[in-house]
Amino acid sequence: IGNTIGLTPALGWNSWNAWGLSVDDAKVRTAAKTMTDKLAAHGWAYVNIDDGWESAARLPDGRITTNSKFPDMKALTDYVHGLGLRMGIYSSPGDATCGGYLGSLDHELQDAQTYAEWGMDYLKYDWCAYSKVAPRPDLTALKKPYYVMTEALAKLNRDILHSFCQYGMGKVWEWGAQVGGNSWRTTGDIEDTWQSMSGIGFRQDAAAPFSQPGHFNDPDMLVVGKVGWGPRLHNSRLTFDEQYTHISLWSLLASPLLIGCDMGQLDKFTLNLLTNDEVIAIDQDALGKGALPTVKNANYQIWVKELKGGAKAIGLFNMSDSYQTISLDKTSPELSGFTKFRDVWRQQYMVVSGKTLSAKVAPHGVLLLRVEK
Ligand code: GLA
Repeated sequence: IGNTIGLTPALGWNSWNAWGLSVDDAKVRTAAKTMTDKLAAHGWAYVNIDDGWESAARLPDGRITTNSKFPDMKALTDYVHGLGLRMGIYSSPGDATCGGYLGSLDHELQDAQTYAEWGMDYLKYDWCAYSKVAPRPDLTALKKPYYVMTEALAKLNRDILHSFCQYGMGKVWEWGAQVGGNSWRTTGDIEDTWQSMSGIGFRQDAAAPFSQPGHFNDPDMLVVGKVGWGPRLHNSRLTFDEQYTHISLWSLLASPLLIGCDMGQLDKFTLNLLTNDEVIAIDQDALGKGALPTVKNANYQIWVKELKGGAKAIGLFNMSDSYQTISLDKTSPELSGFTKFRDVWRQQYMVVSGKTLSAKVAPHGVLLLRVEK
């Protein structure tokens, strides 16, 4: 796979969905410590600062620096690395970020060098105020700032994942890999509602075929646990079943999994949701394929992902407000020869006799299977 980095989707945390622009050094340290203590053994590794760390003005030599919420970025990065984790940062190709902080326009290489000096391992690069430079961007204009940053990152003596955030404009999934994206957002911002999460997740059909090792679709961050986009923290408004659906679908889609909650208040349910190794293994499968739907109707959908070694992951999703019995025909061409049907959330094999596997699935819930011959 050449010199590609990030061969499997990033597993980590990002400050935005919990803290919005009120992120600070202490909150990031809490996230990092919690990740080490409770999540790292399951593969979680990235601690990513989103918007809100930037100084109001550049230094006289043009360098970017931090505001008072981040007194010493290098010390913070050293702390996170010392815990065995990786560190991420955020910027925009415009003169400003979405939150109105300083962007990287005309300082791309200089900023990339600063991130490398700080020890960053991941950059989320958010279109936003670049709309002033390119108000009605054609494909060339959409690609340009990402080429510029990819080139800057390539000049560094450090590997930094390049995560594009431009909301799926210009079908970014068709060219994101070519422009150097390790991932690219395929949508606008997610919220912690069924309408938002399902509206995004179940509309990834067009993007899914472009998922490959080192280059992944990103349907936005997870909305589980305590979220709030600033000082309005509340438990995710997704029901428990909707949260199983969220994590199952994002794993089937080979999405980066970026937890967006206050890690200091990680409750038992959320922790369980994020530490099921068999579910994470579906997300992290080495083939890097995105699932595609085989059935879509008003009541339920079935999405299938090919896994390494000829296995498949299958999500049976109940889209309705009442219990649904969802069936798989074991003699269908996609399933013929498969004999093992493992319910990965419950971590047990299902006893299936006869031609049909039928499951009663809760409203907005899921049965997530790994099937093998
Ligand atoms: C945009 C992005 C979000 C977040 C904010 C920061 O809305 O889509 O994920 O990074 O900007 O201001």
